Amino acid sequence: MNIIEIIEAKKEGKELSKEQIEFWIDNLMKGTIEDYQTSALLMAICLKGFNDDESAYLTQAMLNSGSKLDLSCFGDKSIDKHSSGGVGDSTSFIVIPILAALGYKCAKASGRGLGHTGGTLDKLESIKGLRIGLSKQEFFDQVKNIGLAIVGQSADICPADKKLYALRDVTATVSNIGLISSSIMSKKLASGAKNIVLDVKCGRGAFMKDESSAIELARRMVAIGKKMDKNITAVVTNMDYPLDNYIGNSLEILGALKVLKGEINNLYEVSITLSSVLLESMGVKDAKEKCIEVIKNGQALEKFRQMIAYQGGDVSYIDDDSNLINAKTVLEVVSNEDGYVVDIDPIKIAHSVQLMGGGRLKTTDSIDLYCGLKINKNINNKINKGESLATLYINNGDIDQIYACVLDAFKIAKAPIQEPKMILKIINNI
Ligand code: URA
Repeated sequence: MNIIEIIEAKKEGKELSKEQIEFWIDNLMKGTIEDYQTSALLMAICLKGFNDDESAYLTQAMLNSGSKLDLSCFGDKSIDKHSSGGVGDSTSFIVIPILAALGYKCAKASGRGLGHTGGTLDKLESIKGLRIGLSKQEFFDQVKNIGLAIVGQSADICPADKKLYALRDVTATVSNIGLISSSIMSKKLASGAKNIVLDVKCGRGAFMKDESSAIELARRMVAIGKKMDKNITAVVTNMDYPLDNYIGNSLEILGALKVLKGEINNLYEVSITLSSVLLESMGVKDAKEKCIEVIKNGQALEKFRQMIAYQGGDVSYIDDDSNLINAKTVLEVVSNEDGYVVDIDPIKIAHSVQLMGGGRLKTTDSIDLYCGLKINKNINNKINKGESLATLYINNGDIDQIYACVLDAFKIAKAPIQEPKMILKIINNI
């Protein structure tokens, strides 16, 4: 077997065998296949397709390229959650505490923000003192003792995915459902949880722009998970608009805290759905009511507080929201007309945070954790000329350019639109 034959086979549209995919990944890791050969194969995959079986073989090969966490000490109670990435998406800070408050063991490894999507680790690090680099022993002890931990992914998890992703990023081969599903699922499987819920974002602010591709990605990932004996559910959710009103790293913690303290909004709806569909898939009765109850009685907030304390974070940030706001310039973006807000473009909103220095273009970029914005008028809210659409929190960047970018994200019209649905599809039976 050699790599040229494998590239040739895919170029002709043939299905790759398990052995061919293992050969490719093994030799990619050994360095005996050149990056330009892998790039050619990736492009052939994008052009000719990659089916369910091929995705499962690639997932397994990337999973075997590094170490895996063994969470079997938590029996059937171990839980993981993943989002395919969006804007104003802080569901992890709500879902994980809800499930921990209900007695489950939530061991979550997360990433940093890249491009227009925010990263869970960056958001957490806006809480003074909080450590995301726990040792394996500390991580296990924390999950055992309080039921939850959110940490950085260790470097030895799926190194083949890291190599492949870096090549995909620079060869326009990221957006293939087979490659994305293998990339996400190899990392989820390496994280070791028995029960997994996936939030597959759909819309302008997501990888998957339309519902049929989001459903196909969700279906593909659930199929891979089931093949590997996981209890897995995917929820396709709306990412045509920012999920929460708070956008920016520290501000998204603030938005999540508002929900943990009882605010009911789109972020709440998506978080309750993700938590309850996972519990239902585990056979839990009255799952939704139970999730709502631990928000109402403060137990989910208490779990978040415990996690912050265990990881060395300053818990005064939980009680005093103002710690999460730290900006030299606070500015209102006002409407130039009367009417209803009928659109908020998530990419323009994310771009404005990047203009403030709150987002990364390269993994090595350093960012301002405290800049961002709060949306004051959401879809279908009535607005008068001169009223505030959004509040900006700025430390860096060209203020006029940022202001124009946020104003441009909003569209005002004479009449409201049909209320957008947040939950588009739930997939757990393949
Ligand atoms: N997230 C991942 O981890 N991998 C992809 O390929 C796309 C999104």
